Amino acid sequence: MFEQKIRVTSGIPYLDALTSGGFIRGTTNLVIGPAGAGKTIFGLHFLFEGARRNENGLLVAMQEPPWAIRRDASGFSFFDPSFFAEPQKITMLDFTPSGWELWDPDSLTYAEESELMIEAEGVPYDETSLPTFLHKIFYHISQVVEEKKIERIVIDPLAAFQFYDYGNDSGFLRKLTTGFLANIAALNVTTVAISELAGSMDHSLFGEEYIADSIINLDMLSVRGETIRILRISKMRGTNHTTKTLRFEINNHGITFLDSDND
Ligand SMILES: Nc1ncnc2c1ncn2[C@@H]1O[C@H](COP(=O)(O)OP(=O)(O)OP(=O)(O)O)[C@@H](O)[C@H]1O
Ligand SMILES: [Mg+2]
Repeated sequence: MFEQKIRVTSGIPYLDALTSGGFIRGTTNLVIGPAGAGKTIFGLHFLFEGARRNENGLLVAMQEPPWAIRRDASGFSFFDPSFFAEPQKITMLDFTPSGWELWDPDSLTYAEESELMIEAEGVPYDETSLPTFLHKIFYHISQVVEEKKIERIVIDPLAAFQFYDYGNDSGFLRKLTTGFLANIAALNVTTVAISELAGSMDHSLFGEEYIADSIINLDMLSVRGETIRILRISKMRGTNHTTKTLRFEINNHGITFLDSDND
């Protein structure tokens, strides 16, 4: 039996119109780009539009702490503080390095039964290791998803993996990344995973673009002394999507496409 393709709006109507209606429900979607490209703002569009539709969202913060993301988001026209009040439509989990210090280690239950454990077979349990950290994050996420009936997840960014040094063992990191994202996908949610670029290269750090169902590339170009923002869809499985490079700006309405009015 084939699963039905149900579309989940990205939170940006112009983009949905060019992607047959948005993301496919239950998929993992990568938003990739350099610092300041608008990745977090993209994730906020996705979560706030979801909340407006009574689709509860979860922001997994791994770099910028939730309070800072919320503060920066409060200037946008789509911001609605009521989404953070009970009944909470947007939940934020702090997995930033400063957040770790606030954690009570005893409250972090080790998800022994998770499939990630199987992925990491042969890797000894170690409080300070990446597999252990990922187990804990995944366990927390799965609990919140169940408790709060979460339908949309934003992971901002996948870069927590960078804090661990596995030398040149990219295969190991790739395996863990695959396991982590596959476990999240199995929670039956639609995910936007934010990803940074590996230095000056135009690909991601852990091969996550091969795991993802879609890839949205955000970038900034300097043209005649002006910064031009562009969005390009380099992959969207099962979807008839635009192949155009789309220009946008960020203003008080968030991500705004320049030709969205006259198209
Ligand atoms: N109200 C606003 N009006 C215009 N531009 C804004 C506004 N708010 C933010 N920006 C622009 O958006 C940029 C930040 O976007 P965002 O936080 O989504 O970037 P990011 O890709 O997540 O970056 P990072 O990788 O550093 O987290 C700012 O550097 C600024 O250029
Ligand atoms: Mg960001």
